[in-house]
Order: sequence, then C-alpha cells, then structure tokens
Amino acid sequence: MSVSATHRSVQPLIAPSILSADFARLAEAAAAVRGADWLHVDVMDNHFVPNLTLGLPVVKAILAATDIPLDCHLMIDDPDRWAIGYAEAGAYNVTVHVEAAADPVRLAKNLRAAGAQAGLSLKPGTPLGPHVETLRHYDTLLVMSVEPGFGGQSFIPEVLEKVREARRLVDTGHLRLLVEIDGGINADTIVAAAEAGVDCFVAGSAVYAADDPARAVALLRDRVRAATPHRWTA
Ligand code: DX5
Ligand code: ZN
Repeated sequence: MSVSATHRSVQPLIAPSILSADFARLAEAAAAVRGADWLHVDVMDNHFVPNLTLGLPVVKAILAATDIPLDCHLMIDDPDRWAIGYAEAGAYNVTVHVEAAADPVRLAKNLRAAGAQAGLSLKPGTPLGPHVETLRHYDTLLVMSVEPGFGGQSFIPEVLEKVREARRLVDTGHLRLLVEIDGGINADTIVAAAEAGVDCFVAGSAVYAADDPARAVALLRDRVRAATPHRWTA
C-alpha cells in the first residue's frame, strides 16, 4: 500500500468508482482498472441519498472477485448499525457520512477493531471545523465535491477550501489521515484537487467512460504527479 507510517501518501492514490461501470459485469469492471490503488464502491440506500445501488452481498461478491482493496463509501442512514458488516467482510476502507452517524467516534473504533480503515465523509455543505476532534479517530477524510447520490455531476470547486484546511491539519500533525475527494474528478479538475492537498482521488465517469479504464487511471495519476511533483516520492 502506498501509505507511509505518517499517513502521508507517497504516491497519489486513484480510486475508480464502479458506480459508472456495468453493474451486470462488476468482476470485469474491477479487472478493467488493473493498477488502481483502491476500488471505490458506492453503497446507497434511497434514504440518505435519493438513489439505490448495492449492499453487503454484492460487496462480498466483489471482494471475492478482485485483489484491489475496496473503498466502501456508505451513503446510508444508520451507519452505526450497518457499516461494521463491510469491515468484517474485508473491505479495506469503510467510509460513513458524518451527517448520518449517531456516534462517529465509536463507529470508527468499531471499524478499526474489525480490521478496516475508518473513513468519514462530509457533504459539500458540511463544514470541517466542528468535526476535527472526531476525525482524530479516522484514517481517511472523504470530501464530497458533488452532492452524493449520482455519478457524472460537475465538480464543486468551493470544497477545495475544505481540502486545504484538512491538508493544513495533517501537515501540522493535528490529524493523521488521508484526504480523499469524490465527485466530478477528471483530467482537468484533478489538478486543482491535487494542488489543494488531496491524497486519494475517486473518479467514476472519467475512468469508466474511457476506452481503456486502466490507462485512464494511469493518466489521472500522471496528471497529479506532473502538477504537484514535490508532494510525491519519485
Ligand atoms: C457520488 C458517488 C461518487 C461517484 C463519482 O455520490 O459518491 O463516488 O461515483 O462519480 P463521478 O466521478 O462520475 O463524479
Ligand atoms: Zn463515492
């Protein structure tokens, strides 16, 4: 895994989102992004967001079909009850929404105890400040750069201020986590996200609409490296 002991990514992480893939061919969708760092899986319950995707049985099937670490993004109500199953199943990172969690600190402890990384996500309108102490218990911070629910939306540049704030907190040692961004990431927007301090970039349509998704992943990583060479080891 490309993560140093200090939780600073030494190479940019690219996480293709299978939300933009063919749901009848998820094993092939995973195979099509060989070389990706994480495979991002969007779980939606039609309550927290107005869309319905897949749940734990399908995640278990994906886990059995790929060696790429799974990055499960739970856009669901009551994650305090449901998130643990994804960790126990073997997901690498399990991200819950702070807007939905009743006790996010306890939830993070449970996720870590089950062997997963714990992720906390903030919708575009949710400020970082009130959640900094909570984030001390988390391994990843997922900054949403679209309203959660659908792929293919336009990047909201205003969230980059939140990314810069998180980057400062990590660089000054107040937080130890990876900063991840999700929504509207493509070859253009990824540059601004990298400059603002993102470590891990989720991309759905930009990867799966490409003729060669694995090449799209490599090109996105190259864009980040070219824009912010000082941030990564060679
Ligand atoms: C949106 C999901 C995203 C989505 C991103 O709610 O959380 O992961 O797949 O898709 P793009 O990259 O197309 O915006
Ligand atoms: Zn997502």
